[in-house]
Amino acid sequence: AAAQKGGYDSFMAKEIHEQASAVADTLRGRLDDGSLQLDEMDIDPSVLRSVDKIVVVACGTAANAGEVAKYAIEHWCRIPTEVELAHEFRYRDPVVTEKTLVVAISQSGETMDTLMAVRHAREQGAKVIAICNTRGSTIPRESDAALYLHVGPEIAVASTKAYLGQITACYLLGLFLAQTRGNLYPDEISALMEDLERIPEHIQQVLDASGQVEKLAQDMKDVSSVLFLGRHVGYPTAMEGALKLKEIAYIHAEGFAAGELKHGPIALVEEGQPVFVIVPSPNGRHSLHSKVVSNIQEVRARGARTLVIAEEGDDAVLPYADEVIRVPATRTLFAALLTVIPLQIFSCELATAKGLDVDQPRNLAKSVTVE
Ligand code: G6P
Repeated sequence: AAAQKGGYDSFMAKEIHEQASAVADTLRGRLDDGSLQLDEMDIDPSVLRSVDKIVVVACGTAANAGEVAKYAIEHWCRIPTEVELAHEFRYRDPVVTEKTLVVAISQSGETMDTLMAVRHAREQGAKVIAICNTRGSTIPRESDAALYLHVGPEIAVASTKAYLGQITACYLLGLFLAQTRGNLYPDEISALMEDLERIPEHIQQVLDASGQVEKLAQDMKDVSSVLFLGRHVGYPTAMEGALKLKEIAYIHAEGFAAGELKHGPIALVEEGQPVFVIVPSPNGRHSLHSKVVSNIQEVRARGARTLVIAEEGDDAVLPYADEVIRVPATRTLFAALLTVIPLQIFSCELATAKGLDVDQPRNLAKSVTVE
């Protein structure tokens, strides 16, 4: 088993460190002469042109990937997009028509809750595209078409490289919809793809700097609660950071939309409370960045220990950050592939420092095949 872990303490650590190539693998072979081709996704373009609503269904980490997808798809394609936990969707009589595109995201392709949502949607006449890692699994087999991650098998129960693959595949689907429906010009799509193809290098840079976060995690191994804040795609990133910490380190953790802070969660902040804050690029929409900087200031003023994930060169965060973790600059949407990595490393290292079984956390299964 030690050899299979490639020198890492756990499969999770190994899979975290495979993420640059994982994203490169999801992206490989998708561009043909400047145009995006998703050949394996066998669906009639006229179906994609008639879609008037998208519903993403998923569970766990895959649902957080779906939340990122919503920001990208609505921005690029102007199609109303909702994300729903598959088990909630299935049992609330959702509005689904022949013009609804359901996107089912599942690493394993075997999650029963997600499969039941797929069946229900198809019974109502919706078309379903599965975003999946495991070829030949049930969810893609029962869907109208499938888009695969190609990130290789994921062994650790807590999902890491598949999460990045799912987000990447969602970006590809969003750009493909925009291309098919004419929402973006070909040169806009090429420019976006060029930036997306640069992400694996950026991921490697984040991984190469993992020592800082590992040290932080070791020093924090006795904490009892950690909060995570973000806006825009930083919000699902905060949710995913909190989920990872719950799953493998058994630490109470909550992810919040930073704007929601003042509506309740700020009451939790007391002296010494660790709070991770995911800061959007200062080169994106300026108001978004400055709002998050104010949020850091607000929790810091109430005694929080602020652990800030910010873009290289973003000095506006410095006065309010107890610790700054840097990520390379990229588009606001694509930052979701970078800012989550320090959070994955943090959980993995903290759980390892606590002596826990990182790959097989208590009470959880890699694939939940019961409803
Ligand atoms: C389980 C796993 C999670 C995973 C979720 C969805 O709860 O413990 O890590 O995110 O299922 O799995 P899927 O295979 O559908 O992506």
